Amino acid sequence: MTRAVAVLLAVAAVLAVWLWPQSADAHALLARADPPVNASLRESPTLVTLFMTEQLQRTHSSVQVLDSAAQRRDIGETEFSDEVPTQMGVRVLKLEPGVYTVVWETLSEVDGHTWTGSYVFSVLNQDGSAPSGSGIAIDLDRPGPPVAADAVVKAIGLAALVLFVGAVLIGWLLRPSPLPTLLPLMAGTLAIAIAGTAYESIAGALRLGDIGFLGDVLFDSRNGLWLQQRWYALILAALALSARLIWPRSVDSRMLLRLLAVLALAWLASTSAVSHGAAIGSGWIWGTLFDALHLSLVAVWIGGLASLILALKDRPEVRVEAVRRFSLVAAASVPVLFAAGLLSALIQIPDVGGLVDTDWGLVFIVKVVVLLALFSAAATNAFLLRPRDADSDGQDEDLARRFRRMMRIETALGLVVIVVSAVLTQLPSPASAQPEIEQKDNTVVETVARGDVVVSLEISPNLVGFNTWTATVDAPSDNPVEDLLLRFRYQDAAVGPVTVNTTPIGDGRFQLEGAYFGLPGDWTVEMELRRASGDDLVAAVRTSVESGYQASPFAADRGGALALPLTQMDWNGVGALWALIVGGLAWINRPNLRDRFGPRVADGAFVGAVLGLIVAVVLLTGLHVEPGRTLANPVALTADSVERGSALFAANCVSCHGGTGAGDGPLAYSLPAPPANFTIHVPFHPDGVLYAWITDGIRGTGMPGWSPQLSDQERWDLVNYLRANFDPLATQ
Ligand code: HEC
Repeated sequence: MTRAVAVLLAVAAVLAVWLWPQSADAHALLARADPPVNASLRESPTLVTLFMTEQLQRTHSSVQVLDSAAQRRDIGETEFSDEVPTQMGVRVLKLEPGVYTVVWETLSEVDGHTWTGSYVFSVLNQDGSAPSGSGIAIDLDRPGPPVAADAVVKAIGLAALVLFVGAVLIGWLLRPSPLPTLLPLMAGTLAIAIAGTAYESIAGALRLGDIGFLGDVLFDSRNGLWLQQRWYALILAALALSARLIWPRSVDSRMLLRLLAVLALAWLASTSAVSHGAAIGSGWIWGTLFDALHLSLVAVWIGGLASLILALKDRPEVRVEAVRRFSLVAAASVPVLFAAGLLSALIQIPDVGGLVDTDWGLVFIVKVVVLLALFSAAATNAFLLRPRDADSDGQDEDLARRFRRMMRIETALGLVVIVVSAVLTQLPSPASAQPEIEQKDNTVVETVARGDVVVSLEISPNLVGFNTWTATVDAPSDNPVEDLLLRFRYQDAAVGPVTVNTTPIGDGRFQLEGAYFGLPGDWTVEMELRRASGDDLVAAVRTSVESGYQASPFAADRGGALALPLTQMDWNGVGALWALIVGGLAWINRPNLRDRFGPRVADGAFVGAVLGLIVAVVLLTGLHVEPGRTLANPVALTADSVERGSALFAANCVSCHGGTGAGDGPLAYSLPAPPANFTIHVPFHPDGVLYAWITDGIRGTGMPGWSPQLSDQERWDLVNYLRANFDPLATQ
């Protein structure tokens, strides 16, 4: 018996090394794009690349690029990257100046959900002015978000899993095994799980079209692969249980429990492998392991408690001893769960204020309230009732009754938490909210009078990119305004002006749609009013246009409410942290372990502590190579190169980084965090690293990647410019 506890503790400890908060649901949504959302490009890109939040199922994910006339401008098939499974892209024809709409659809490899979306970018005219044309609205008739039923099925499925695992555990822990009492619970939860898995398979097929896609769902996606494994595990478990129910004598309890334990693990693994913890790009193994750990600890605690209550019904005399054993196991899982949940919550909540605004936030608050109740019930049981029950050796009937009732309350609260958490994973968390759909809106209405005419101009949404200008003209009826032209001038005389005719829409109103605000900053919109009499008027409106560019949804990378240093932490960092924590705990607890379990376990803890240290060191130093660290700069640091870089910097980078590189450009404050000050940072980073950042961008910060827009040479020129200007030690 104590061996079993030791093994469980060890397993929990080892798994805890991989502890990583599961990222709540995001499906395969757009994280960032290249060219970026609402970008204004000076040249046609050759490739449009989208970075989604989850791995993509290639057969059902695609990108199209459409011009203002809804003609496709992409060529060839959607391409996928072997290195980056969340990336897809498509080559495009040379794009004339104009506004282009990128339409994407995805089937997540991870959760099997489909999603669609679109965004706009424009290619500027030769002279840098905004092009004519407009983005187009696409009717995306693919079923989008998961329905509420999905969340309910998921919740029930998780509760079933937790109860099943708990039943197997208690069947194992107690002597003699209470298996016969637990068999109905096992059979019931298994039946629920089979129904839920059938629902998931069929719903997946329907989401793709019709039931005929069942084969695609099961055999043609990563999600399906795991769904298949879950099917196998459930069917085998059902066969084993049926055999036991039909031939009670010939199926030995120990054997059955062993088999069910393995199958329950497979069930658990196949569930975790499609969790959103598994969705995080290259770190999916960690995410999966974390999710599995999380789930198994919940199962040990809540599922175990439920079965314990059932098992003790028939055998009150073993209560004191059984509860003692169980609370050892539960005590090992609760703190780890608590820490993991806390970390996970901090990461998911970008700001506390926004909590009440979203469904996710509300459900989260419910979860916290129920959790508090759960922890108080657990604490009452562990610290008040159990010791007193043990002291009275189970003889105090009144106390025993209260204890039993409180254990039931603890179990029920635990199940509620599981259900609420499952619902939570089906809602987009604030940290993963989809930015490109929630466009900002800075609509302005300005009214000007010229002679006998009053015009008011509404500009909506008054952001870089696609806008609608609506002019309402009030003129004497004997000399009406017949035509209205708009002329767009940018603060910087080098851009524009461009003049466009509007369309009369009746009632003295004129309208124009298009992406004429190509850059953030101050724009002057001149209205040229053509009148019947020929005495044309000009009225001007100035407006300050912001970027509609939104932060990447990888808010998780930004650290959440308390801005933990996680921004800079990657999988390796988190893994190392936990290796150290677990190793440290093992080290500190050696004397206790020796007293309780003997010298061999204490020696094991020693080895564990040393291993933890080694793992941490390896993770922090060995496996982590900063991208670009080993790249040599092929472009010499010459005055020529610096000059080219300087021009590129002025054209592309000043908007965020500011003219002096201080990180105070006009766009800086619309970003998740303003850019770093180059004067401080550049000296610390080798050329290759700067190049890698400029090429691929910095995930989660708003620093875009420039690889299709700027050539290799240009990006190295930029590195040289940065080096020459911001690194006092640089020599030309
Ligand atoms: C949309 C805004 C934006 C634009 C445009 C932009 N950057 Fe950035 N850049 C950022 C942000 C935000 C960061 C993140 C700063 C941080 O990590 O502290 C960043 C970081 C960087 C860094 C790393 C700085 C460091 O040491 O941490 C480099 C180098 C850089 N940018 C170069 C460029 C170059 C070159 C261009 C033009 C081709 C450019 N950036 C254009 C927003 C932008």
